[in-house]
Amino acid sequence: KIQGVIFDLDGVLTDTAEFHYRAWQRLADEEGIPFDRQANEALRGISRRESLMRIVGDRNYTEAQLEEMMERKNRYYVESIQDITPNNLLPGARELLDELRAAGIKIAIGSASKNARMVIEHLGIADKVDAIADGYSVQLSKPAPDLFLHAAELLGLEPSQCVVVEDAESGIEAGLAAGMLTVGLGPAERVGKAHVVLPSLEGVTWEDLQSQLFGTAA
Ligand code: G6P
Ligand code: MG
Repeated sequence: KIQGVIFDLDGVLTDTAEFHYRAWQRLADEEGIPFDRQANEALRGISRRESLMRIVGDRNYTEAQLEEMMERKNRYYVESIQDITPNNLLPGARELLDELRAAGIKIAIGSASKNARMVIEHLGIADKVDAIADGYSVQLSKPAPDLFLHAAELLGLEPSQCVVVEDAESGIEAGLAAGMLTVGLGPAERVGKAHVVLPSLEGVTWEDLQSQLFGTAA
C-alpha cells in the first residue's frame, strides 16, 4: 500500500525548470557555446556540475573556470527565483498536496537542487511537506536512486511504499532504480518510461493517481 509520495520540485510543483533553462542559456550565450531549449530537456533533474559538463562538452576549461561558470549560472538562477510566490505553484499542485495530507499520505520533496529549500519557502509549502531531500543530501545524483531512497528513509517508509512524481527522464530512471512507482509529467519522449504519464498535475486527484497506478483505487 502506498504511504508516501516523493515530489521532484523544479518542473513538477513549480516552473523553475524554465528558470534553470534561462540561466543556462544566458551562460552558454556569454560563452559562445551552442545551446537551446531542446538541448536543455536532457538537463532536467541533472545536477549543476553535470549540467555544465554536458553543456561544455569537450571544450577545454580549467576547474577554476568551471567553478566560476557554475557560480555565474547559479547567480542568474537565484536572481530569478527571488520573486517566486505561492502563485508560482503549478496548477493542481496545492490541491494534490492538501488532498494527500488529508488522506494521511506522507510527502517528501526529492530535488537535486541546492536551492530547493529557498524555492519551497517562497512557494509557502514548507509546512505541507514531511521531509526534504535536496542537492546537499546525497553524493550520487539522478539517475542514481540515492536521493529518492534517502527521501523514503526520511519518511520512514520502504521504497515499495512510495510513488515518485517527476518531469525529468533522469528522475524517472532514478525512481525506477529505487524500486518505486513513478508518475511522469510531460511528453512521452521525456518521461515515457514512467508507470503513468500525465501532461501535468492539473485536475489530478489522489484517487485518479491510484487508479492509474493500480488499475483501481486502492
Ligand atoms: C534540479 C533541476 C536541474 C538543476 C538541479 C541542480 O534537478 O531540475 O535543472 O540543475 O536541480 O540545481 P541547483 O539549484 O543546485 O543548481
Ligand atoms: Mg524536475
